[in-house]
Amino acid sequence: MSDSWDEYAFDWDANKDAKAYAENAFETLSDVVNFNNINILDFGCGTGLLTEKLSPVANQIVALDSSQKMIDVLNDKKLINVSTLSTFLSKESIRTNHLLHDKFDLIVASSVCSFLPNYESTLILLKSLLTKNGIFVQWDWLAQEEGSRTGLTNRRVQSALESAGFNTVNLTQPFSLESSKGSMDVLMASAKNA
Ligand SMILES: C[S@@+](CC[C@H](N)C(=O)[O-])C[C@H]1O[C@@H](n2cnc3c(N)ncnc32)[C@H](O)[C@@H]1O
Repeated sequence: MSDSWDEYAFDWDANKDAKAYAENAFETLSDVVNFNNINILDFGCGTGLLTEKLSPVANQIVALDSSQKMIDVLNDKKLINVSTLSTFLSKESIRTNHLLHDKFDLIVASSVCSFLPNYESTLILLKSLLTKNGIFVQWDWLAQEEGSRTGLTNRRVQSALESAGFNTVNLTQPFSLESSKGSMDVLMASAKNA
């Protein structure tokens, strides 16, 4: 399967902004999640910059990405409790991949959702993969207005999570990163499948 993200895979881990993003995401995650023998889905895992940090504190991780080349880089890291899946998330891929048949205590999506053409419907699929009281957490660049080329607005994220049926939605802006465009804020949303 060819994917537009394939071309970024080889150099992704050398990107200091991508590394800083994953490090900050991991640090902020401990504020909302109790890492106690939990099973995690890393949705849009890329080369596994966040997966690597989650691996020592998780029971099992399924790392899913639509880019085979991103997954190839992650596979080379040989993380013992990580199984990988190169696929788009869909009803069909959930039905046919046994790695998606057991529910997850935590689903993370670090810098993924704003790139999805179907963010709202993907949330419904992700919610179906959570245990009762399981938690979904996403981080994305914060956009100030709808239709922005980069990121998502607080309003869209809140509304999408509520429409998907999540309870206890919590939105914060836990960190900012410097980029060529100046300082960019990151939105973090956590939501419970209660
Ligand atoms: C900005 S990268 C972030 C990668 C990783 N989460 C990280 O923090 O380093 C976005 C990733 O989302 C993946 N992606 C985009 N759309 C996807 C989809 N529909 N299903 C699965 N992965 C997707 C891309 O292949 C890419 O690896």
